[in-house]
Amino acid sequence: MGIDAKTLTSNPCAGGPVRDGLSSALCALISLREAESKLLLGTYDRNPLLFVRGEGMYLIAEDGTRYLDLLSGIGVNALGYAHPAIEHAIAEQSRKLIHVSNLYYHEGQAAVAARLTRITGLDRVFFANSGTEVNEAAIKLARAYAGLRRSEGVPLGTKILALENSFHGRTIGAVAATWKDKYREPFAPVMPGVEFVRFNDVADLRAKFSTDVCAVLVEVLQGEGGIQPISPEFFETARDLTRSTGALLIADEIQSGMGRTGRWCAYQHYGILPDVVTLAKPLAGGIPLGALVCTEEAARAIHAGMHGTTFGGGPLACAVAVAVIDTIERDHLPDHATSIGTYFRGKLDQLAKNHSSIVDVRGLGLMLAVELDSADLAKHVLAEMMRRCILINRTSETVLRFLPPYILEREHVDAAVDALSEILSESAFAAATPTAGGTHSGR
Ligand SMILES: Cc1ncc(COP(=O)(O)O)c(C=O)c1O
Repeated sequence: MGIDAKTLTSNPCAGGPVRDGLSSALCALISLREAESKLLLGTYDRNPLLFVRGEGMYLIAEDGTRYLDLLSGIGVNALGYAHPAIEHAIAEQSRKLIHVSNLYYHEGQAAVAARLTRITGLDRVFFANSGTEVNEAAIKLARAYAGLRRSEGVPLGTKILALENSFHGRTIGAVAATWKDKYREPFAPVMPGVEFVRFNDVADLRAKFSTDVCAVLVEVLQGEGGIQPISPEFFETARDLTRSTGALLIADEIQSGMGRTGRWCAYQHYGILPDVVTLAKPLAGGIPLGALVCTEEAARAIHAGMHGTTFGGGPLACAVAVAVIDTIERDHLPDHATSIGTYFRGKLDQLAKNHSSIVDVRGLGLMLAVELDSADLAKHVLAEMMRRCILINRTSETVLRFLPPYILEREHVDAAVDALSEILSESAFAAATPTAGGTHSGR
């Protein structure tokens, strides 16, 4: 069983000698936590786990405990841990060239761009280092493209339409297009010119759309928003409206892209081609890399010196991205995401039939969610899963989110769903009979 938060916080070992019965792993975690609390900005509320390595589907803690990882570093470690293709690419490239800047050529960017244009159906690529940075680039591209069109006599304003419950990142432009107040308000004023449309509300989209709008920015499958798919009607309307004025349709596929949903990108399930697609998370298997991919037409707006980054699309990240993309392709991982995702979804649907606390099961491929009827229960389930050495996370308070590596197999699904079933049964029993169930109902 894993370390739980209660054990950690009540642990008398902190600051003192190791006592009988307390492992050195726990003491290492406690002293690290103390050091971080003094040294780092308080941006993260970490789980009390200290990992030292990974292997396939498993993260391994300091004391050797193996955790089944169904979150993959928030959708990043698509090939799992210590994948030989990634190890090889890093070793090879690190011996040759790690960084050279965007002042010179290296072989990597064209190699990755050739793959990304092929798999997205778009024409040109800009590389950065993270999701938020490529969304920032997409916003700048939309504003610059609108300016170009205005100079050509076409009326196009500067407004960006984003969706309620969206998440696009933390930089000042991307956060302006991110729905939740808690991400924006402490930093106000964020970038002006964003208006939010009610999710999947076609009438609201039509009412807010005009030639003032330079871009409609959507997540095809909202991630932080609770694994919510955009409706075909809404997506088609966004495509038709943007096409009618020349505004850009931007699909943020940072969480849903690169094969996770069973296609390279989630928009490919809808048969709709956006003008701009943003990708990051799994693109270089854990080495930071983001990519904006766009049409030739939109790319007309950008010329040398307008935008850039020191690190973006460096040789190391690009070499690993080539290895990741080629492995996803060679091992037919999008097809695997579909088949194992269907199996996982079937098991979760069955679970929902047996547990009234589950109010919805949704998602596509290996981007799945179970919505529970209370935030406390979701919190409790997460902690209990961690105690059973299975990692998932919670989004939108009540939603359990599964973003496993693409190498997931049935045995992993069975272990996770069995654990969930046990925890939900125990919680229901404790809620029904508080005296018998002790204090862990979590409801
Ligand atoms: C859909 C989406 N867009 C953008 C981002 C921001 O990416 P990053 O954290 O790499 O900046 C995320 C991160 O979770 C995301 O899920």
